[in-house]
Amino acid sequence: MEVNFKELTFKGERPLVFILSGAGLSAESGIPTFRDANGLWRKYDPKELASIGALERHTQDVFDFYNERIKNAEPCRPNAAHIAIAEFQKDVAAFCDVIHVTQNVDNLNELAGSPRVFHLHGDFQTSQCRKCKKTFPRIGFYQREQVYPDCGANNFAVRPNVVLFGEIPYGMDWIPSYLKKACVFISVGTSGTVYPAADFVRETKVSLRINLDLDPLIHPYSKFNHRVYGKCTETLPPLLDELKKELITRLKEKPAE
Ligand code: OAD
Repeated sequence: MEVNFKELTFKGERPLVFILSGAGLSAESGIPTFRDANGLWRKYDPKELASIGALERHTQDVFDFYNERIKNAEPCRPNAAHIAIAEFQKDVAAFCDVIHVTQNVDNLNELAGSPRVFHLHGDFQTSQCRKCKKTFPRIGFYQREQVYPDCGANNFAVRPNVVLFGEIPYGMDWIPSYLKKACVFISVGTSGTVYPAADFVRETKVSLRINLDLDPLIHPYSKFNHRVYGKCTETLPPLLDELKKELITRLKEKPAE
C-alpha cells in the first residue's frame, strides 16, 4: 500500500480516526450506487423521487421507490470492507476512538458487527411521523394508512427516516468539530458529489480517499493527501491493518507522563 501514515499527529491525546463512507462501500454487497453506470440516479430522477418536494407532491411514488429499495436491500450481506471497519473499530477501541459516518441508509455495517455507525442521511431501519416528528423502528413497508400510535395522523404520515434533497443531514451540529480533531480522515466509496459530506475533507489534517475512480480536478476532493484506487473490499482491509499497526507503534513510543 502506498499510504504513509507516519504524518499522523496526535501528541499527548487519544487518537481519533474519522471514516466517511458512501454507496461504494455497499456496492459489492449488491446495493446499487447512485452515480455509477448502473446507479439509481441514471435511471430515476432524484428530484421526482428523493426530494422534499416530491414527498409533498406525489407521496405514493416516493413510498414505492423506497419500498422497492428496502426490499432489494434485504437479502444483501456485509462484504469484506464492512467487516474490516467493524473489526478495526473493535481492535483499536482500547486506545483509539473511531467515528464512522455513513451516507448509506442500509444496515450492512450493523450486520457486520460494527459497534457504532452514524447515518448522516438516515436509514432504512427507522421511520418518522411527518406530523409529530417522532422517529421509531420501521414496521413493514410504507403505505398511506400507516400511523404512529400516539399521534394517530394518517394519510401518508409515516415516512421513511431518510434525508431527502431539501432536508438537512443529521449530525451537522457535531461533525465539524470531530473532523478537525481527527488524526486521519478516511473517505471510502463516495463520489463526493453531495454536500455537506463532500466538504468534510476541508476540515481535516490528514486525509485518504479510497475509491474505484479518479477524483475530478476541480473539486473539494482534490484536497485529499492520499488516494488509493480499487475495490474497497480489496483495498480497505490492508489499509486499516496498516493504520492499526502505526497507531500501536506510535502509542508505544509516546513518552510516559
Ligand atoms: P455515488 O453513487 O455518488 O458514488 C459512489 C462512489 O463509489 C463512486 O465514486 C464510485 O466510483 C465508488 N465505488 C463504486 N464501487 C466501489 C467499490 N467497490 N469500491 C470503492 N469505491 C466504489 O454515492 P454516494 O457518494 O454515496 O443521498 O452518494 C452520496 C449521496 O448521494 C447518497 O447518500 C444519496 C445520493 O443522492 C441521498 O439520497 C440524500
